[in-house]
Amino acid sequence: MRKYRAALIGIGGFGARHVEVLLQLVNEGEMEVAAFAEMNAAAHQESYGKLTEVGASHYIDYEEMLKAHPDIDFVVISTPIATHKPISIRVMELGFHVLVEKPPAVTIQDVDEMIAASQKHGKRCQVNFQMTSGNAFRKMLTELRNGAIGELRQVTGVGMWHRAQSYYSRTGWAGKLIFNGQYVLDGTFMNPLAHTLNNCQIAACAASEDVLSVHPQWVQAELYHVNDIEGDDVSCIQTRMSNGVEVNFYGMLCHHLNDHPYIVLRGSSGEMRWQYDHTMTISSGDRQEKHTFDDGDLMSNMYRNLMDAIDNPETELLASLQACRNYVLVANGAYESAKKVRDIPRQYVVEEQLPETSVRLLPSLSERMPHISNAGILYSQAKLPWAVATDRIDMTDYRHFELPEALRQA
Ligand SMILES: NC(=O)c1ccc[n+]([C@@H]2O[C@H](COP(=O)([O-])OP(=O)(O)OC[C@H]3O[C@@H](n4cnc5c(N)ncnc54)[C@H](O)[C@@H]3O)[C@@H](O)[C@H]2O)c1
Repeated sequence: MRKYRAALIGIGGFGARHVEVLLQLVNEGEMEVAAFAEMNAAAHQESYGKLTEVGASHYIDYEEMLKAHPDIDFVVISTPIATHKPISIRVMELGFHVLVEKPPAVTIQDVDEMIAASQKHGKRCQVNFQMTSGNAFRKMLTELRNGAIGELRQVTGVGMWHRAQSYYSRTGWAGKLIFNGQYVLDGTFMNPLAHTLNNCQIAACAASEDVLSVHPQWVQAELYHVNDIEGDDVSCIQTRMSNGVEVNFYGMLCHHLNDHPYIVLRGSSGEMRWQYDHTMTISSGDRQEKHTFDDGDLMSNMYRNLMDAIDNPETELLASLQACRNYVLVANGAYESAKKVRDIPRQYVVEEQLPETSVRLLPSLSERMPHISNAGILYSQAKLPWAVATDRIDMTDYRHFELPEALRQA
């Protein structure tokens, strides 16, 4: 097996995880890290040291790096969300395959530009939605395709986490809708719970003959916040897909615990449940099974899958730009439908002091979430006192997102 040559752009923040994965692959003899680009290397000495120790050269400017290392196979992009599109397109133009962090971009027009660039330059672009690669999730998709629960009718994703004030103050774009004049749309489903919504979309299409021809028909969503941010920390999204499957997503970042997000698939003859803790269950007639997998580091699956795809045109990417397109469509439809991110009045919010920060919680939603998500209803339909009904948005020929007027003034 040949060694692949990689480069990394962005070593701070989540880039440190990429440094770990790269070093693991170097240790296993599968990879050489030729170079890395970071504008603020002084702030990330640990990652800087680890990379230079394995022979990687540091650059400030990523284009300069790529011009100096034409033999690189692929480039990992772990920079802030708004930079994903311009950097990915430039990297592909310069002749390299890409592994870009999730979300690939926040508007459907940007994702479509990235898809066009990937096709024009013949370069693979994997999105680091690493939760698509776990064995429990892959088994659920295989069982679904094999008819384990009959015809798929409904997909429900639930993510209940908490994020403290320190999370929102860690970087300039956290909690922002627009940052430096560019859309960021940072919130439940665009950032921390993006994997849950993306996996819901992947599961909703998985049993269809032509997976990439299934699209959302309509979206209806409600967005709220308990923190003083522009984006949402509480959301619910209902979607009807063109194959008839209903997809419901529920997210909150103000739960007292960090529970494992999960997805429930309901079919004509049973149901399956997949959870972030690498477990999945099948419940269909006499078949009651629980499977637990020891998955290791999911991110290395995304790397290995891309490396395989670089040399084998028939290898499908686990999370291609095309496969993530429905996720971005639904996310854009959610803003179009909600039109605003509404404040949840302080009377419903509990603020807890932590050692060096504080966290805001919404106990009334934590309590009712199991009932609401099982019923497949929106928060306003559950008559939560702070919830406001929204309109359904037709997504059948949706190709361009602009932030609704009320949100541009947030
Ligand atoms: N896959 C996951 O589970 C997961 C988890 C967390 C974050 N993320 C994603 O990781 C990405 C990075 O998030 P973050 O919180 O680390 O962001 P961040 O703001 O901390 O930025 C990451 C690094 O990129 C560097 N950078 C920015 N522009 C650059 C450029 N042009 N050239 C070189 N370096 C540049 C910054 O200096 C910083 O060190 C985001 O897309 C986020 O959504 C993914």
